[in-house]
Amino acid sequence: MTDDDQELRVSKIRNGTVIDHLTAGEALNVLAILDIDGSGGEAVSIGMNVSSDRLGQKDIVKVEDRELSQSEVDVLAVVAPKATINIVRAYDVIEKKRVERPRVVHGVLSCPNRNCITNDNEPIETQFQVTENGLRCGYCGMIVRESEVTSHLAVNWVDLTD
Ligand code: CTP
Ligand code: ZN
Repeated sequence: MTDDDQELRVSKIRNGTVIDHLTAGEALNVLAILDIDGSGGEAVSIGMNVSSDRLGQKDIVKVEDRELSQSEVDVLAVVAPKATINIVRAYDVIEKKRVERPRVVHGVLSCPNRNCITNDNEPIETQFQVTENGLRCGYCGMIVRESEVTSHLAVNWVDLTD
């Protein structure tokens, strides 16, 4: 089957964001990190292990009536470095962003070290250095693997329906 046939499994959206070219297995992790759990009433479609010319198999996530903020794009770059983010309006892809692995991530990810000062109710923005071995907390030095990061993103998606 071609990519297009496969895409029919997850239908086109009118407005919103398509997070495409996720490595197979990343979809649920991406939803967790972006705090997308459907509780906001948004329509979410998920394709897992969809065949792709470029990747063999890929995951894909479509969220209707929502657009990713820059901090969400930053997080995606860490957990899903191959992702393409497509902004869809009136059924057309109006913007396509390739994520770029940042060197530092500010204020999005949580440090898993309970004793870290960033978990002390202080108004301190977290800061992680992105290294080959994982993310290094700028405050306590703890190394967190990409597959284990958690975010403290509030539900701060930009609503496209306004
Ligand atoms: N898409 C969608 N709804 C739309 C338009 C596009 O769900 N109204 C999805 C497509 O199914 C595809 C992704 O958004 O998964 C990107 O669309 P498009 O740029 O048209 O596809 P390609 O050219 O194949 O993109 P790329 O080159 O990034 O693979
Ligand atoms: Zn820390």
